[in-house]
Amino acid sequence: MCGIVGFTGRHEAAPILLEGLSKLEYRGYDSAGIAVRKGDTPVRIVKAKGRLKGLYEKTDSGKAMEGTCGIGHTRWATHGEPSENNAHPHCSDDMNVVAVHNGIIENYQELRDKLSRKGYTFYSQTDTEIVTKLVDYYYKKYNIGPIDAIAKTMVRVRGSYALAIMFKDYPGHIWVARKDSPMVIGVTDGECYVASDVPAMLSYTRNVYYIDNLEMADLGNGEVHFYNLDGDEVKKELTEITWDAEAAEKGGFEHFMMKEIHEQPKAIRDTFNSVVKDGRIDLSSVGLTDDIIKDISQVIIVACGSAYHTGMVDQYVMEEFARIPVRVELASEFRYRNPILNPNDLVVIVSQSGETADSLAALREAKAQGIRTLGIVNVVGSSIAREADNVFYTLAGPEIAVATTKAYSTQLICGYLLALQFAYVRGTMDEERYLSLIAEVASIPEKIEKIIEDKERLQFIAARLANSQDVFFIGRGIDYAISMEGSLKMKEISYIHSEAYAAGELKHGTISLIEDGTIVISVATQDDLYEKTKSNMVEVKSRGAFIVGITHYGNFEIENTANYSIYVPKLDTHFMASLAVVPLQLLGYYVSIGRGLDVDKPRNLAKSVTVE
Ligand code: G6P
Repeated sequence: MCGIVGFTGRHEAAPILLEGLSKLEYRGYDSAGIAVRKGDTPVRIVKAKGRLKGLYEKTDSGKAMEGTCGIGHTRWATHGEPSENNAHPHCSDDMNVVAVHNGIIENYQELRDKLSRKGYTFYSQTDTEIVTKLVDYYYKKYNIGPIDAIAKTMVRVRGSYALAIMFKDYPGHIWVARKDSPMVIGVTDGECYVASDVPAMLSYTRNVYYIDNLEMADLGNGEVHFYNLDGDEVKKELTEITWDAEAAEKGGFEHFMMKEIHEQPKAIRDTFNSVVKDGRIDLSSVGLTDDIIKDISQVIIVACGSAYHTGMVDQYVMEEFARIPVRVELASEFRYRNPILNPNDLVVIVSQSGETADSLAALREAKAQGIRTLGIVNVVGSSIAREADNVFYTLAGPEIAVATTKAYSTQLICGYLLALQFAYVRGTMDEERYLSLIAEVASIPEKIEKIIEDKERLQFIAARLANSQDVFFIGRGIDYAISMEGSLKMKEISYIHSEAYAAGELKHGTISLIEDGTIVISVATQDDLYEKTKSNMVEVKSRGAFIVGITHYGNFEIENTANYSIYVPKLDTHFMASLAVVPLQLLGYYVSIGRGLDVDKPRNLAKSVTVE
């Protein structure tokens, strides 16, 4: 969360910083600020509470701030309420040090007390102001250069950070440091960029350096120098980003979420084609050989949010196909419960960003126990991608809307292909079924296209939902996993209270909440469980519920029970999540629009949760 940017070069910095921040607004948007410096004149800082628009207005789109070197920040509040005072950049009292920060400093109170004893005063409630002043303190106390002052600070603070810092004595330079918070650095044509995420600099460069944990860098004069904690210079390789700038733009759609829903067929095809050759799965790019697959005794899938929901689907599919025990766990729980892992287990971390703090910590916990780890990750070069033993990339391209759609869909595809390959290699599935199920997966994009073509129909039911207080999603088996995702999509962007229940659990409490007109969305795509789920639909209907049924074409009988029916094309039931989720994404979208909300940037949320 929080987005940071920096630029130093020949061009005016402020417009570049503002544009970069606009690409990072998905990371946080309760306030924003920039600091810009012209030559060796004093740094100017401008901040605004609320969306970036306010900062654009205050700086006349950057024109009011002259200078070719600067840093900027868009905030998702952790320490201190969203306010102009707490917005970044922060500075030492004499403006000797100015900084922006993404992350959390855990021992901020102790450091604040220490600095107070040394005569520092504080104007904000943020941990960032404390780090900024700590750098200033070491810089002056030991009369050392920026790298040594930052290194001393890094040794003293606990927590996570990506920092971009300007020093009064070094015009034209930006210094950065990183631990457990993402940061990329770009260099092109004698100019340097730094940002929390690639889209912020895509329109300028695709050549980036990834700075590692506990490293620092000095950007200036068109060059970047990297240093380790000892202050020794380290060499880095440039990486070329293959996403194009257009992929991170709205491309004619009103919102990123709708654009990304439409991109699902392509994202799925790309991900599928990356490991399927001539109709067979080849996981050599992932590094999972047949011998490795045969030796695995258990699979533990660890993730957060929607990625966790794909893990729920994977559990059903992989256990069914490969007859291997699969556990799925929330990363925030897994990391703190001293999990029992066996040497032949495989821990799979699913993450779009590859930076989610809990998922990253879970990965490290598994690695510390010597367990093989596999990352299913979208962002190339992210921390999880770099630290996992094996990586299966989802080729969804940049996902900007906070509510995930195409990353979720591609994560499902990775799960299906892993399950099929495990089953085939371990001898629980014969060749004929293996090949025919791969062909089924190949048919998903086209079927999603059909659902999307028909999207306008959903607006009718979305209008009914827009006025509800509560929505319940029910389903069994994979339909339960789909319900979890459908419910999350609804609540996160429409702010309507929604819950997902395993349909069989309803009668153990939740059914008492059903009254006249309560909306229940019943996901009923699993043929073997259909009759059971239908009984649950009848139970809630007889208590007054208004039922929206989702099933596949052919199951028209659902109309006897459901008040409104949504049909998706037929597909092998194991893969139905890929189809049933699409109308649920669209429903969430239309309900949010109907309520006049900001679909792409729902309140209180951030796309990449890099703090606990
Ligand atoms: C946030 C996002 C969700 C995402 C979750 C996990 O909550 O809003 O869409 O599923 O983080 O993120 P990750 O990047 O690890 O997939």
